[in-house]
Amino acid sequence: MTEIVCLPGDGIGPEVTKEACKVLSACAEKYGWELSFTTCPFGGEAIDSFGEPLPEATLKACKRADAVLLGAVGGPKWDRLPHECRPERGLLGIRKALDLFANVRPVKLYSSLASASPLKDPGEVDMVIFRELTGDLYFGKKGVTGEGDSRVAFDEATYSVHEIARIAKKAFSAARSRKKHLTSVDKSNVLVTSRLWREVVDRIALEYPDVEVEHQLVDTAAMLMVRRPGKYDVLVTSNMFGDILSDLGGALVGSLGLLPSASLAEGRFGLYEPVHGSAPDIAGRGVANPVGAILSAAMLIEYTLGEVAVARQVERAVEETLKRYRTPDIFVAGTSLVGTAEFGDRVTETIVGGGV
Ligand code: NAD
Ligand code: IPM
Ligand code: MN
Repeated sequence: MTEIVCLPGDGIGPEVTKEACKVLSACAEKYGWELSFTTCPFGGEAIDSFGEPLPEATLKACKRADAVLLGAVGGPKWDRLPHECRPERGLLGIRKALDLFANVRPVKLYSSLASASPLKDPGEVDMVIFRELTGDLYFGKKGVTGEGDSRVAFDEATYSVHEIARIAKKAFSAARSRKKHLTSVDKSNVLVTSRLWREVVDRIALEYPDVEVEHQLVDTAAMLMVRRPGKYDVLVTSNMFGDILSDLGGALVGSLGLLPSASLAEGRFGLYEPVHGSAPDIAGRGVANPVGAILSAAMLIEYTLGEVAVARQVERAVEETLKRYRTPDIFVAGTSLVGTAEFGDRVTETIVGGGV
């Protein structure tokens, strides 16, 4: 029995997670897998019921599980809470508690979505961002000193050799099984953490002589990702830069709602979450794009279940469905406009029908 904990969270989180579970259940039925789903409170909804974004019982359930499927957290309702009490603290807390240091974010443009990209001529876009997830500005010392208008706020960024080496190894080994090209993104002209980053990446590179490494400054990388996205294969970068560049990736391929991610430690356990947030502007209307969540489920199938062929099948089913059905964020004339649940139904039918 594979135990999956669902943390639907807030806003569109529950809407898209439901579709991801639908697809997982359909695969389980088709291939005779035994999956169990347990839903736990998390994020803003957990603050409302239990006074904290990551209740002890939720964390315990996640630690016992084989995988976690997460929706999104946050929203205007909780924006005025003190920093330590916000829904986002729950997300950072669970990543840290489970030591999920490698956030894998594939950015792929489906040919049928070329017109949804804001680029005139996007060409082939197929890259994977390896975002370090448990260090950097996110987890350093932070605080505010002084009073009133004399206040000074600080967020410390730290990286250890060990933290850089382990994410670099993951990225190199992914590059080895792809086009053997790795771009390491940093800001080593300004940050000492980045200088260490570059040094450690170069050291790990010696273990992967077949992989070509290129270092880029993050400002240049942001520009080149727009100008020549086809040049990228695997990217590896720090927590903050990876966060920003992956949303840029979402824009490149047509919608932030399309991007999945896997947050991994060593071993097969993983937490799978779309790259987007709780999208309060469209929440509750059944119009959110569930593709990021469904492809996150595909990543669960690949990394935790090890069923690579089925993961590819889910991806193909999504690609096929996108040729005919679209949620409003990527809608174009000539396709049918559908809501979140109907899109999930169409993907599921395609998988069950065996058309892909
Ligand atoms: P967001 O990612 O929620 O939304 C940005 C824009 O993208 C919005 O216009 C939204 O409608 C659109 N969008 C996002 N996902 C979509 C989808 N699946 N389908 C269609 N459109 C989609 O970012 P935000 O509005 O800046 O943040 C809202 C809240 O979400 C904040 O509280 C933020 O902290 C939180 N957040 C959470 C996560 C997470 O839980 N992993 C990630 C990012 C942001
Ligand atoms: C993401 C989100 C989170 C992050 C926030 C909500 C804490 O933007 O998963 O990309 O910055 O990691
Ligand atoms: Mn983000």
